[in-house]
Amino acid sequence: MRYLESIVEENQQITDDIFVLCVTFAGGDVKPGQFYMLKSWDTELTLMRPISVFQVEDGYLWFMYRTVGAGTRRMSELKNGDRIRLLGPCGNGYPCEELKGRVALVGGGVGIPPLCHTAEVLHRNGLTVDAYLGFRDELFAVGDIELWCTDMFISTEHGEEGYKGFVTDLLKPERYDAVLTCGPEVMMRKVAAMCADANVTCYCSLEHRMACGIGACLGCSIRTKNGMKRVCKDGPVFRSTDLMW
Ligand SMILES: Cc1cc2nc3c(=O)[nH]c(=O)nc-3n(C[C@H](O)[C@H](O)[C@H](O)COP(=O)(O)OP(=O)(O)OC[C@H]3O[C@@H](n4cnc5c(N)ncnc54)[C@H](O)[C@@H]3O)c2cc1C
Ligand code: FES
Repeated sequence: MRYLESIVEENQQITDDIFVLCVTFAGGDVKPGQFYMLKSWDTELTLMRPISVFQVEDGYLWFMYRTVGAGTRRMSELKNGDRIRLLGPCGNGYPCEELKGRVALVGGGVGIPPLCHTAEVLHRNGLTVDAYLGFRDELFAVGDIELWCTDMFISTEHGEEGYKGFVTDLLKPERYDAVLTCGPEVMMRKVAAMCADANVTCYCSLEHRMACGIGACLGCSIRTKNGMKRVCKDGPVFRSTDLMW
């Protein structure tokens, strides 16, 4: 993990509130599910913001983010050629090297972007990957993820695209050797419970408010069955059976 000064290559709005940011990257190993702390301001906002890696390419890192508050709004104003500071890669990421066979990726909202890099790595490792993606309304990242997947299952709350309802209604965990999930806690709890019933290994990527992002401030600590853990350093990915929801 290190500090990087990068240059914005592209910062494109793809829906009402979703942006894709591409920055220059000198290279290094980035595991699926890892994230960077980002900061593109010097003034009143002190803390960096955690955003997961969406895609990694030769010389570039991609992030996909939703504008929700002051930091992500400032990010959305970045133009090509602007400078941005990054700290990372942070966190443990999914244990892709331990997985085999057929894997389901279950994402909801901005939990979907990190599953893109995950799908690519699992596919390149020779695994069969299916994606279950749940959206509020507008779709995003689907074309990027389906490149690496055998079957895609899409749901939206209003049913204008795909199945109307929750993506967990579509999931059949017993078809898989492992299920990896990222998104709203209520969705991940349901996925974890379904996997427990089907006796299938499940990994959840947690979201938590973060200050330092490097394990120093303890601000993101959670209670687990193995004691207190820092989401930013010991996670964000946890085995579902270790979590105390
Ligand atoms: C490991 C991890 C990976 C993430 N990956 C993505 C991603 O790929 N795409 C994406 O759109 N969002 C992602 N998020 C959520 C994103 O970090 C927040 O939406 C963002 O920090 C909000 O900042 P803000 O200044 O716009 O909002 P504000 O609400 O103004 O933020 C105030 C403070 O709270 C923190 N904060 C607010 N909401 C969250 C949140 N949901 N999670 C963590 N910290 C929060 C901010 O970092 C900041 O320190 C991720 C969060 C975590 C923990
Ligand atoms: S945010 Fe500081 S320890 Fe996790």
